[in-house]
Amino acid sequence: MTPNTAKVSGDPYEVLCAFLKKESGLIIDAQKRYLVESKMQPIIRREGLNGFHGLVDILINNKSAPLAKEVVETMTINETYFFRDKVPFDKFSQVVLPKLIETRPAYKTIRIWSAACSSGQEPYSLAMILDQMKAQLGGRRVEIIATDLSEAILAKAREGLYSQFEVQRGLPTPFLLRYFDQKGDKWQIKESLRSQVQFRRLNLLGDYNAIGNVDVIFCRNVLIYFDNAGKREVLAKMRRNLANDGFLMLGASESVLGTSTEFVADPMHRMVLSPADANLGAARRPAVAAPATPAALRAAILAG
Ligand SMILES: C[S@@+](CC[C@H](N)C(=O)[O-])C[C@H]1O[C@@H](n2cnc3c(N)ncnc32)[C@H](O)[C@@H]1O
Repeated sequence: MTPNTAKVSGDPYEVLCAFLKKESGLIIDAQKRYLVESKMQPIIRREGLNGFHGLVDILINNKSAPLAKEVVETMTINETYFFRDKVPFDKFSQVVLPKLIETRPAYKTIRIWSAACSSGQEPYSLAMILDQMKAQLGGRRVEIIATDLSEAILAKAREGLYSQFEVQRGLPTPFLLRYFDQKGDKWQIKESLRSQVQFRRLNLLGDYNAIGNVDVIFCRNVLIYFDNAGKREVLAKMRRNLANDGFLMLGASESVLGTSTEFVADPMHRMVLSPADANLGAARRPAVAAPATPAALRAAILAG
């Protein structure tokens, strides 16, 4: 790419922050200027751009979609580890899954969505729990859909290859020995477990139709980077995908207080949230996969 000399009006740092918010929902405050500039420097140098101004000019004038994607991905925070915070996974195995097994007919697939899955530790932790609970599941099918904004992090997630440091964070040793193969100085999730997770790119600011109706959503440690309007938008959309008697799990430091009236926390299990309108009977909001008209409903019943 040739050096770009076009002028950007206003502070290019602020323009970049507005761009990041629009593309990903991420809010970056004024104190992060140095961090943002240092993260952008390698891209600016590699592309031979006219400094920060040159980069921002390319972004706001849509001159390079791949570069815009790279800039957004560079700014995402991918911190994650196996069984992160432990409690949500305990709640999943002790409260959520038993409830779903009790309330769902055996032929019905249980669908779990790990939104903002980063390098895969969250959905693979869920897959390990499901394997441990095979007997209780009694042959019932479970699907895990794991999504993230970043293609680069999804490629790592799909490969399921982790360093010694990564498998030492949160993963019980018996699980390491049971569910991983050693590959040189790294560890790879066994194919049998990898094949249980479908990884797909999805921007939480986009639409969720491709996800369909799900029973459980893990949406942890991503909404902390959004402003209230962004959080509200995501939670409202998630409500439409979640079964009326489904469950939403947020991160340890996240809550819906002051941002959403769509969900309520279980008083006994703080991190487990349910749709707030779950007890409204016929007035409940239909989930996305529900037939929209009486004719479609009749056809669905006839189709079994
Ligand atoms: C801190 S990680 C959290 C990973 C995992 N959920 C956990 O709690 O360990 C946040 C992830 O959110 C993703 N992310 C950020 N903005 C996003 C957006 N608008 N849509 C989808 N994913 C996004 C990032 O790429 C990153 O992988």
